Amino acid sequence: MLLIKGARLVDPSHHIDKKADILIDRGKIVEIKGSINVRGAEVLSATNLILCPGFIDIHTHLREPGEEFKETIESGCRAAAAGGFTAIACMPNTIPPNDNPSTTRFIMERARMANGVKVMPVGAITVEQKGEKLCEYFSMKQEGMVAISEDGKSVMNSGILRRAMEYAATHDILVISHCEDHNLSGKGVMNEGIFSTRFGLRPVPVQSEEIIVFRDIAVSSLTGCRLHIAHVSAADSLFHIRRAKKKKMRVTAETTPHYLYLSDDMLSTYDTNLKVNPPLRSRSDVQALRKAIKDGTIDCIASDHAPHSPAEKEVEFDIAKPGIAGLETSAGLIMNLVNDGVISLKRAIHLMSTGPAKVLGISPNSLTVGQEANITIIDLRKEWVVDPSKFFSKARNTPFAGYKLRGRVLATIVSGRVLYSEL
Ligand code: DOR
Repeated sequence: MLLIKGARLVDPSHHIDKKADILIDRGKIVEIKGSINVRGAEVLSATNLILCPGFIDIHTHLREPGEEFKETIESGCRAAAAGGFTAIACMPNTIPPNDNPSTTRFIMERARMANGVKVMPVGAITVEQKGEKLCEYFSMKQEGMVAISEDGKSVMNSGILRRAMEYAATHDILVISHCEDHNLSGKGVMNEGIFSTRFGLRPVPVQSEEIIVFRDIAVSSLTGCRLHIAHVSAADSLFHIRRAKKKKMRVTAETTPHYLYLSDDMLSTYDTNLKVNPPLRSRSDVQALRKAIKDGTIDCIASDHAPHSPAEKEVEFDIAKPGIAGLETSAGLIMNLVNDGVISLKRAIHLMSTGPAKVLGISPNSLTVGQEANITIIDLRKEWVVDPSKFFSKARNTPFAGYKLRGRVLATIVSGRVLYSEL
């Protein structure tokens, strides 16, 4: 038995915000009361800490199979636990991609062996992510696949996307869209604007994202398929998402901590850790996204954890791989926004926990008796400095190194097991 004493329990989806002890037995929450004392129980003291439903990351890249030098399912799971996540959805752009039931099964088996946070594989939309032939969604779902996505790129052929969405809708499978018109983005590496001109870097117009956001919403309307827009980076995309939501369409959206903090003017350093896809946008986009996480246009925060090796990042900006290792900084960056007054604590917990569960259509973590004990414990006041050398991830590629943040994950509990603890 595990007894956590003295925490402030915050579960916005159940209108819970109170100080209480919480008792866990055989993986489940068995009692929540002002004061609990049980002989023989392992006790964690959490006085002055926030205890909330475990965070869920809807968008992670684990590089297994194929690029285990960047991340394995096991190292990614450890990074996730250190970042406060009790479950993660992993994108299919591995080598080979997760485009068939046996690869999905392989990921599930590796995750079982890692015995850490829950891993929920996302399958590819098309075979080899080539945008031509549809994968076998139904058999992949039977192996544990939770959604489909071509993440890393878009399905450019709208006819193929229509068929994919029709097939997905038949089995109520969520489509997660990476929105990028490749004919517009071309070989671009940063946001198009005054700064791309000044820095002499090949540009990607905001319209490259906007056009596909609009198109995918339109095809979702045509097919009735549930659609989730991944890593929204631009105000112009928010316009279309708001419109879809107003029309009560089945459209949801995520953004990531880096689009809430970083902007294209920062690329004056040519730091390849700032290279990400979609690219960092303007300061006004950052402000628009900060508003959108508050007003409900954005349903959840995703890490878009994209681990890369030093050999892929310590090169010219043009050829560096895009991506940021985000699992171990996401919660801290979001809690820091709470301390800065950008969003409320309740909204932050919603965006990190209930929000992603709702989007995925899985049962949300909650602080109620009888529920599985998937819990994240946070010290909202703790100040810390991001130090990539301390990451559990194999990767170190973060532009947040040296950032001083307020708010830190101190423990992660999955099915009653303490997977990470600084308590
Ligand atoms: O920056 C990115 N990196 N964006 C993506 O869409 C893919 C990801 C990766 O897999 O590295």
